[in-house]
Amino acid sequence: MPDTQNYDPSEIERVMKTAPVIPVLVVKDVGKAREQAEALVEGGLKVLEVTLRTPDALEAIKRMNLVPGAIVGAGTVTNVRQLKQAQAAGSEFIVSPGLTQSLGEAALSSGLPFLPGIANAGDIMRGLDLGLTHFKFFPAMAAGGIPALKALSGPFGQCLFCPTGGISAKTAPEWLALKNVLCVGGSWIVPEGADLDEIKARAAEAAALAG
Ligand code: 3PG
Repeated sequence: MPDTQNYDPSEIERVMKTAPVIPVLVVKDVGKAREQAEALVEGGLKVLEVTLRTPDALEAIKRMNLVPGAIVGAGTVTNVRQLKQAQAAGSEFIVSPGLTQSLGEAALSSGLPFLPGIANAGDIMRGLDLGLTHFKFFPAMAAGGIPALKALSGPFGQCLFCPTGGISAKTAPEWLALKNVLCVGGSWIVPEGADLDEIKARAAEAAALAG
């Protein structure tokens, strides 16, 4: 069993503080992956979460990694096998929708910055047991929205969050105003069918939000 109590959270904190918004990407056409990453980085969003929800997601991670300045991570990592595949593809950080002990231990052993999903106090306590303090609050709106995260910050004031799930350009500023929120995640930056100009414009708008 890894010595998880020695985990250094500064690396995931650096990723979370790079930009106020992490675009959550579902890449269906890997042929467009690189140019979409370029549009996002040009717009000011360098941290890109590629969800492992499509067959070409790992290939998309490799191609997006070729874009100067991009910090490309894997999202929707739900088990150790996916973690290893994501690492082999060059992922620079790992996001999961929830936290299991097996995934948590493997992520900490991997040395990659890790942002596991939590939705309640028990989830956070499991993370703290592993030495984790930085979490994705998911699904942010369905799990109670801002009131829920404010309530959790009472007993867990040492924790920092990236709320994701149901957040929009309009609501992102309210979340970013919370002192325990370093960034938010969302798929609104790259809606299905968006062209590169629109992606860049949405990224620029998101990058201008106060983090
Ligand atoms: C995620 O995987 O983090 C969410 O599906 C993103 O949620 P959104 O589509 O509501 O932004």
